[in-house]
Amino acid sequence: MISHLNRSFVLLLGIILILSCEKEKNKRVLQFPKTDLAAQNMIPKPLKVITTEGGFALDQFTAIHTSETATGFIDVAGFLAEKIQAKTKLDLSVNGTPSENQEGVIYIHRSDSLEHDAPEAYQLYVTPDSVILNSNTPEGAFRGVQTLRQIISEVPNDTLAEYPVWTIPTGKIVDSPSFEYRGSMLDVARHFFSVEDVKKYIDLLAYYKYNVLHLHLSDDQGWRIEIKSWPKLTEVGGSTEVGGEAGGFYTQEDYKDLVAYAAKHHITIVPEIDMPGHTNAASVSYPFLNGNGKTPELYEGMRVGFSTFDTRKDTVYAFIDDVVGEIAALSPGPYFHIGGDESHVTKKSDYIHFVEKVEKIVQKHGKRMIGWDEIATAGIDSTAISQFWASKENAQLALDKGMKIIMSPAKKAYLDMQYDTLSKHGLHWAAYIPTDSAYIWTPEEYEGIPMEHILGLEAPLWSETISNIDELEYLAFPRAIGYAELSWTPKENRDWENYKVRLANQAPFLDRMNVKYYPSPLIDWKKSKFTYEEIKKD
Ligand code: ACM
Repeated sequence: MISHLNRSFVLLLGIILILSCEKEKNKRVLQFPKTDLAAQNMIPKPLKVITTEGGFALDQFTAIHTSETATGFIDVAGFLAEKIQAKTKLDLSVNGTPSENQEGVIYIHRSDSLEHDAPEAYQLYVTPDSVILNSNTPEGAFRGVQTLRQIISEVPNDTLAEYPVWTIPTGKIVDSPSFEYRGSMLDVARHFFSVEDVKKYIDLLAYYKYNVLHLHLSDDQGWRIEIKSWPKLTEVGGSTEVGGEAGGFYTQEDYKDLVAYAAKHHITIVPEIDMPGHTNAASVSYPFLNGNGKTPELYEGMRVGFSTFDTRKDTVYAFIDDVVGEIAALSPGPYFHIGGDESHVTKKSDYIHFVEKVEKIVQKHGKRMIGWDEIATAGIDSTAISQFWASKENAQLALDKGMKIIMSPAKKAYLDMQYDTLSKHGLHWAAYIPTDSAYIWTPEEYEGIPMEHILGLEAPLWSETISNIDELEYLAFPRAIGYAELSWTPKENRDWENYKVRLANQAPFLDRMNVKYYPSPLIDWKKSKFTYEEIKKD
C-alpha cells in the first residue's frame, strides 16, 4: 500500500500509472480480497447483481461528484457524504475542486438510459477506480445511495496504509422496486411519539428503501395534530394516551418539520384522521361531533369500536372540511387517509353515507382517499385506495370497484403482533408473527388479490402496548426489514435462508444506530469485530 506521507512518491507513481495500462492502474486495489457483493449486507435484495473481483478504496482521498444541473441530485450527494461521515468519520467533498491526491471518485449521475425506466430505478457500477450511480430521478439516486451505504465495509481494511480505508466490493447492480408503495404506519395516537422519535424511525425506514410513512394521527385516546380552526382538539383531545400518561401533539410547525425531513429521505407522509369511529378524543373536545348518544369523556383504555361521529349533521362535515383542509395544505403527498375501520356503533347506512361524503371532501382538497378495508362497502370511486387489514370480502368489494389495494393483513404484516408468547410487548389477537413468518409469505398473491391491483405493502405499528422508542424498535425490528424486502424484491428473488444471512449482517448497522431490535433466536446475528467507539478513534 502506498504511504500518503510520501507525496513525491505518489506524484511519481501517478505519472507511472498514467503511462501504464488500465490493469496496472488498478494495482493499488488488487490487494483487496475477493468480495461477494451478493452475499453482503444488501436488504432489500437488488434485482440483478454481477460480482467482479476487487474493491474500491473509500478513504480520505475519495471525492463525491454530481451534476449541479440535475434537480435534487446535489441533495442526494450531500446525503451520501453525511452518511459516509457518520459511518467512517471521513469528510468527503461534494463537487469540490479535484486535488492532486484525489484517487477514487463517486459519481452520482442523472441518466435516462437504464435497463428499467421506473421512477425509483437505479444502476450502480463499482470498479476499483470509481463508483458510478446512475438514475433518471433523485428518488432513484437516493435508493441507490442506500445500497451503496449498505456495501461499504463495516470496519476499515486491515492494510499497511497509515490511514483507514473502507472497501466497496466491485461489480454491477441493476435495481428497481416491485411495488410503488412501500410503507409503514406509526400509531402516534394510542401513545404519542416525539418528532425526534419519528425522525429516527424515518432514518431507519429510508435505509431499507421505504417510501411511505403513514401517521395515525387521531384515535379514541388522543388527537395528535394541531388544527388552528379547532384548537380544543389538541388542548383537550391531545392531553391523554393509553395508560394515563400526558399524551402530546404535533404543532403544525412540528408536522411541517416531519414532512420536510421525510421528503429529504424521499419518503411521503400519509396523514390519517380516523373516522367516523375511533373519534372519542375529537368528541370530548367538541361534543357536537358525537353520535353515540353518550356524554363523552377522555379515554385511556384499549377498547375499540365504541365511538362515532354524528354522520347526519352538516356541522360535522364542516368540521371535517376544516380538518382535512388544514392537514392537506401541509401534506405535499397525494394521499389522505380517512381511517374508516371498526365503526361498530355507526349504523351501516350512516357509515356508507359518511364515507361517500368524506371522499368528496378529500377530493376537494386535492387528495386521493385511502381508508381501511371497510371503506369499500361504500359507493366510492375507483381512485380511492383500500388498505386490506382483515376482510377478504371487503377486498373483493374494492376489486369490484376497480380500486387499488394496499396489503397490510394483520395476520402477516402487523408490527404490533407479538413474536411469540415470550414477547415483552405487543398483542396477539391476529397472530404471533415470528421473524420468519413475517418474511415467508407472498403479498403479490395473498388471498387471490391480483398483483396488478396491489399498490404496495404497508406494515402498521399500533402503539397500545408501546410507549417509548426502545419498545417501538423492539416490535418494528427486525420485522420491518423483512417487509422492506417483500415490497421491493420480486418473489422469485426471495429466499428465507439467503435473507437470514443478510439480516444477520444488519446487526452492526442496527447497533451503530442504537436500535433496540428484538434479537430473534432464528438469526445468527453478526457482531462487529470492533465497537463503534473503536472505529471513531481512528
Ligand atoms: C385496524 O387494525 N383496526 C385497522
